[in-house]
Amino acid sequence: LTASIVGCPFSGGQPRPGVDQGPIHLVEAGLIEQLSGLGWKVQFDGHHQFEEINAAADPPIGKLKNPRLVSRVSEAVAKAVGGHAKKGELPVTLGGDHSLAMGTISGTLEAYPEACVVWIDAHADINTVETTDSGNIHGMPVSFLLGIGSAVPEFSWVKPLLKSERIVYIGLRDVDAGEKRILKENNIKAFSMHEVDKYGIGKVVEMALDHVNPKRDRPIHLSFDVDALDPSVAPSTGTPVRGGLTFREGHFICEEIWSSGLLVALDLMEVNPSLADAASVQQTVAIGCSLVRSALGETLL
Ligand code: ARG
Ligand code: MN
Ligand code: MN
Ligand code: MN
Repeated sequence: LTASIVGCPFSGGQPRPGVDQGPIHLVEAGLIEQLSGLGWKVQFDGHHQFEEINAAADPPIGKLKNPRLVSRVSEAVAKAVGGHAKKGELPVTLGGDHSLAMGTISGTLEAYPEACVVWIDAHADINTVETTDSGNIHGMPVSFLLGIGSAVPEFSWVKPLLKSERIVYIGLRDVDAGEKRILKENNIKAFSMHEVDKYGIGKVVEMALDHVNPKRDRPIHLSFDVDALDPSVAPSTGTPVRGGLTFREGHFICEEIWSSGLLVALDLMEVNPSLADAASVQQTVAIGCSLVRSALGETLL
């Protein structure tokens, strides 16, 4: 089996510098060797080089910040991920901010139209052009993939390939009012931290898969935002929210998705090595690596 690392040093979907260094730190921490150690053939031809567009040439469209840059970068990522997936490789995308998922999931759905998405995050990232307050596109990729909200011509390459019943969330705890409305109106299944507390992570993952993948026959794209974890566990991230998943809960999700035998693509997003002291950075990067290992088959026994 081949895992293809798609390193995406990109931060244009949000304002805090440093998240573009996430993939570089993950690779430098030894992720590729670790995956080889698990028996994977790992393909990594260096981090992606994205074209730059200077700010003057990329003014906001409505509230959206860096729209042309985010669009072009995620389009390139869609091609990279889709290309790897079509060759039967497992794309592992290292972010970078979560706007990149517009690309990764587009690529996956291009190769596997029946795929479902398991989205692990403190946030729903489902704001539309109408609802976004921040204008940061990392808070919006899901709405583009679903084709909800008014269309932005700049993003016309994003096809609404994702159906609302084929995405499920785990870990939510910071969802904007407009996003709550969107989740309800579109009947999108979400397990917040309240449900994790109430039922336990084992039951929540089972219910999540029952919803999105009842016959356990659909390929799974796992999009993991490291801020789903509690900030005490993974502090180096741009939008930390207290009350998150424990170390084990995060890894358990990855282990269960791997055991399903259905994983076809993985994203590990929002590691920002410039946002904390050295020890916290090291801890967050190490956890990023171990989440990827768990999703790619590392077991405790
Ligand atoms: N909901 C907020 C926004 O729209 C925060 C999004 C945070 N997203 C993330 N991928 N960390 O700006
Ligand atoms: Mn590649
Ligand atoms: Mn998040
Ligand atoms: Mn996110």
